[in-house]
Amino acid sequence: MDIATVDELLTTTRAVRNRLDLDRPVGREVILECIRLAMQAPTASNAQDWRWLVITDAGKRAAIADIYHSVGAEYLAYAAKEASDPQTRRVYAGAQALTETLARVPVHVIPCLDNRIDNSNLLTAASAWASIIPAGWSFLLALRSRGLGSVWTTMHLAREREVAELLGIPDTATQAALFPVAYTIGTDFRPAKRPPAETITYWDAWGHPVGER
Ligand SMILES: Cc1cc2nc3c(=O)[nH]c(=O)nc-3n(C[C@H](O)[C@H](O)[C@H](O)COP(=O)(O)O)c2cc1C
Repeated sequence: MDIATVDELLTTTRAVRNRLDLDRPVGREVILECIRLAMQAPTASNAQDWRWLVITDAGKRAAIADIYHSVGAEYLAYAAKEASDPQTRRVYAGAQALTETLARVPVHVIPCLDNRIDNSNLLTAASAWASIIPAGWSFLLALRSRGLGSVWTTMHLAREREVAELLGIPDTATQAALFPVAYTIGTDFRPAKRPPAETITYWDAWGHPVGER
């Protein structure tokens, strides 16, 4: 394996909102290619019950964007104004800007599980969510490797049923996220600032980060 390339992919797959190319068409094949790669992700009991809903219809994207806007725009504008640290302020401002541009992002992808998740039991909930989330992240990594970008969003789930009705998603399925997908404007993304792993890693027992030893 070319470790440098793999590390670059893993450290620079960012939440892309302001650098989505709204004018460049995205072909069906590249989306399917990324889904094929994502389907190598694990699922509990090897159930492989992922479903991918790809939305390119302009009317449906506009309707999804309306719902997304109604859930998030006001809150995100407020949060952007109130945030004290600059990185968080930038995140909220970018997220707020996406509520305005979402309809124009050429492809919306909703990763689903063909199952209804029972969130009352930790074992079943963790198993079900982890049967779609790794595939979703692989999809975003695959996009990045091909010059496309996206951002993991969950905002529309506050009005999940309306989006389900719009797209014919049965109430036996679960939507996990909404990915606005486009080619990125430039491909030079950088690793984000994160704390040293030693400060958040415990060894053998909870409580003493390995960096303190
Ligand atoms: C579970 C989850 C939900 C998220 N929901 C939203 C969302 O609804 N809207 C949005 O613009 N970003 C959303 N994000 C993106 C985060 O804001 C973003 O990942 C974070 O700020 C870190 O940025 P980075 O991924 O570039 O490091 C979500 C991320 C995760 C993991």
